[in-house]
Amino acid sequence: MRRAKITIIGGGNVGATCAHWAAAKELGDIVLLDIVEGMPQGKGLDLRQASPVERFDSNIIGTNSYDDTAGSDVVIITSGIARKPGMSRDDLMSTNMKIVRSVSEQAAKASPNAVYILVSNPLDAMVQTAWKATGLPTNQIVGQAGILDTARYRAFIAMELNCSVEDITAVLMGGHGDDMVPLPRYTSVAGIPVTELIAKDKLDAIVDRTRKGGAEIVGLLKTGSAYYAPAAATVQMAEAIIKDKKRILPCAAYCDKEYGVGGYFVGVPCTLGTGGVENVIELKLTDDERKMFQASVDHVKELVGWVEKNWSAA
Ligand code: LAC
Repeated sequence: MRRAKITIIGGGNVGATCAHWAAAKELGDIVLLDIVEGMPQGKGLDLRQASPVERFDSNIIGTNSYDDTAGSDVVIITSGIARKPGMSRDDLMSTNMKIVRSVSEQAAKASPNAVYILVSNPLDAMVQTAWKATGLPTNQIVGQAGILDTARYRAFIAMELNCSVEDITAVLMGGHGDDMVPLPRYTSVAGIPVTELIAKDKLDAIVDRTRKGGAEIVGLLKTGSAYYAPAAATVQMAEAIIKDKKRILPCAAYCDKEYGVGGYFVGVPCTLGTGGVENVIELKLTDDERKMFQASVDHVKELVGWVEKNWSAA
């Protein structure tokens, strides 16, 4: 059986950690690409040398050349700068737009049939950038954010209830910003609505901490942003695609008529399989939830407006 081929672009903390999780799960052969000479080769070789101990049979190479990425099934794009304390994700826009545009164009030439998972920030605008740069069908382009944000939310709920994270399922929508929309009404603990187990003020505090979850880590690390949880979330998406699992996961997917979004990538529950985003699930939202979702979508539209305006100058 042919092994799946996974390319990870950007060999920094998120990219290298994606390689680590993907190799440990034996998702396929891995190509780690970075512009810095030697670094992806060194990390790839180091990870390969971990394989006899950890017992995984993935071939892992590091490279600076897109030729080595040809024919990938999944391409994960992590390139770009990360934020420092005091910065918002939006402050990364002009630098990361140029980088994501360039790497997406080059990767798509080598792997036109791959599913592209975007991780760079500001996430929702970078997904739109990659779509515009590659010209690929919308189902082949998807952004990672919802799984990370939901994972933070689930971890905080488990910490509050002193229960297993495995028993918590949740949905979160909107963009990957402080206006993301966790949905307590759709959050359950082993089938029990979370609203029956945690008092409203405590749940509100958890929602608030989730929204600011990225900034909390940036404030602690000081030199960059989170990478274990972002990489784990990304690899869960890659796994769903490679194994055609049809998992229902919150991802930044293209929505046109869906939720009345009108042609933007925003966080919604969707089905991930070999075809990439195979379906967007439309939930019934209350008026309040819809208002919060709309505010988040409006923010995404504003950022994408910036991308459109500055495209020819970039
Ligand atoms: C975060 C960054 C990586 O949420 O977006 O941690």
